Amino acid sequence: MVTNDLFPPQALPPDPAHVAQLRRLLHEHAHLYYVQDTPTIPDAEYDRLFQELQAIEAQHPELVAPDSPTQRVGGRALDQFASVRHAVPMLSIRTETDTDASGAQNFDARVRRELGLDESAPAVEYVAEPKFDGLAMNLRYENGVLVQAATRGDGEAGEDVTQNVRTIGQIPLRLPKDVPPILEVRGEVYMRRDDFERLNEQQRERGQKSFVNPRNAAAGAVRQLDPAIAAQRPLSFFAYGLGEVTPEQTGGPAFGTHYELLQALKIWGFPVSALVGIAQGAPELVAYYDLIGQQRDPLPFDIDGVVYKVNSLALQRRMGFVTREPRWAVAHKFPAQEQLTTVLGIDVQVGRTGKLTPVAKLVPVFVGGVTVTNATLHNEDEARRKDVRVGDTVIVRRAGDVIPEVVSVLLDKRPPGATEFTMLRQCPVCASAAVREDGEVDYRCTGGLFCSAQRKQAILHFAQRRAVEVEGLGEKLVDQLVDGNVIRILPDLYRLGLTSLASLDRMAAKSAQNILQALEKSKQTTLPRFLFGLGIRHVGEATAKELARHFGSLDAIMDASLEQLLQVSDVGPTVAQSLRTFFDQPHNREVVDQLRACGVTWQEGPPAPVTPTPLTGKTFVLTGTLPTMSRDEAKDQIEAAGGKVAGSVSKKTTFVVAGVEAGSKLTKAQELGVAVLDEAGLKELLNDRA
Ligand code: IVH
Repeated sequence: MVTNDLFPPQALPPDPAHVAQLRRLLHEHAHLYYVQDTPTIPDAEYDRLFQELQAIEAQHPELVAPDSPTQRVGGRALDQFASVRHAVPMLSIRTETDTDASGAQNFDARVRRELGLDESAPAVEYVAEPKFDGLAMNLRYENGVLVQAATRGDGEAGEDVTQNVRTIGQIPLRLPKDVPPILEVRGEVYMRRDDFERLNEQQRERGQKSFVNPRNAAAGAVRQLDPAIAAQRPLSFFAYGLGEVTPEQTGGPAFGTHYELLQALKIWGFPVSALVGIAQGAPELVAYYDLIGQQRDPLPFDIDGVVYKVNSLALQRRMGFVTREPRWAVAHKFPAQEQLTTVLGIDVQVGRTGKLTPVAKLVPVFVGGVTVTNATLHNEDEARRKDVRVGDTVIVRRAGDVIPEVVSVLLDKRPPGATEFTMLRQCPVCASAAVREDGEVDYRCTGGLFCSAQRKQAILHFAQRRAVEVEGLGEKLVDQLVDGNVIRILPDLYRLGLTSLASLDRMAAKSAQNILQALEKSKQTTLPRFLFGLGIRHVGEATAKELARHFGSLDAIMDASLEQLLQVSDVGPTVAQSLRTFFDQPHNREVVDQLRACGVTWQEGPPAPVTPTPLTGKTFVLTGTLPTMSRDEAKDQIEAAGGKVAGSVSKKTTFVVAGVEAGSKLTKAQELGVAVLDEAGLKELLNDRA
């Protein structure tokens, strides 16, 4: 651009229509991004629009409006929150802790009694919703602009947390034109499990305290006095009701049912859970309770039960309240995901790679649907931070598919004389030195395959279904084989004879025969399975496949230089180094040679041309929660196969992979006629390459 110094560009007064247009666009795209999960413009374009508006507002502060998208983060740290009196009290719900079908049946019976319905009267219609485990929030909009966000508090008055709630992308700052002039939306602010895990990981890395559970993390973020910190805590929102609303007589909405009201909230731009449903009578409430109960673990967020609400608003009014609880609703709880128990001891376990993990041994406790007897303490730092000691009363949590965890200790219940945990400096199994390398959080046993714990794990890893698969070779048998010195190195597996097997405890001749057959069968394998089975650090299934495809033969992999390894699409410096370290050790090569000498074989091919891989040119979009793969795993595997993973669905998308709670991306795929896969379908595509 040529500028003329004599005539510097004049700062023209901004065109108000342009400013309004910018805000409108930003609101629209924020909704598409945060609520619909289907962005239609690239992030960079959003940022550009945002910065343009920010620049105009910086020049012309008089144009800054509270609903401007630039106002999500801002404001100074507070000393305390102002108190807010709720225009309509925020009620609580009666809780039903009976986790059987009778919990739902009793509620329906009570409703029918209170409505004076006899047995011949038709079923009562309910809306059934998840009970989100976060904190209740009242969002007040005046003329479509968010003016206040308040916590529930004691139900009569809460705290003004507007500054923090503005930072939640899913909460609209401005609503469409046709909303009632006064509109209070109620719902739950919560933190997704993946956001929670990430936040805690970050906290641990920074040496800061981790949060006990997503609910506490969400509550802490909402009650954070510094909005800049709150803005860094990823929060989400589901709307489930209304507070004060312009009355029907003065132009307010006239909803007949709770369900209609939820649909309106969705249209106005609020996230409403896709799991909300209508249920006729007790049998459908029970079915809903069971269905959501089954989906609880794979959901991306915590729920602690379901909520049943009489659908008809007229019937709701007829039923009214008892002591701050509506008679038309109940919260039907699921089994708790947190329980108290006692620490019996702290063991140190040795993993396949020699990693030492402190594990709390617990008095068995039923939590999150399973009986828990062990809970990982991750590593020395974490164990010390939580300061778990033998004899302590602790809170154990098991949520989703996450392994059980000790979340905190009840210090006032600590028995006198309980001593602090210290990590062993020796492997508890083979007594080799345990070392913690610089910058690492874990101690590792230096014994390698000399360590029977590592040998056991190595054998189980090799024999597992996803590796060479030796059917029937389980933990008990491997324990016996290794402890009895029958197997010292992996190839000894194939040297087992009927006599050595049948002489083991409880090993009937018949099952000995079966194991030998299974071993025989396992000899016919594939290169990726064999390579994965070797248990090389950082070489998972996907990497093994990629290596096999790239190099074609095991010898080529064993002899590949670091540079050559780095050419493989799925291989970075850590993986490459790990492979080199493994194959540089003569005894590892010896193991491979002996396995081959024992008859383990696979087909080898020529090295693959560098491109294209089977998924090259294919674009995937992931939505919802898959039954067994995490989103990162799915993404890694697709990318390792040459595919791309995009954030939003368009005509260019080849496949949408949909799991539980798949939202608008799935709808969009169906609209555009894009092929939809489930996890099994994805795996099939991925396995086609093996
Ligand atoms: S309705 C009058 N619906 O549970 C009914 N509440 O004690 C008002 N909650 O603090 C609440 N999920 O934070 C309702 N789908 C849902 C809910 C829900 C979670 C929370 C809410 C409230 C508590 C009820």
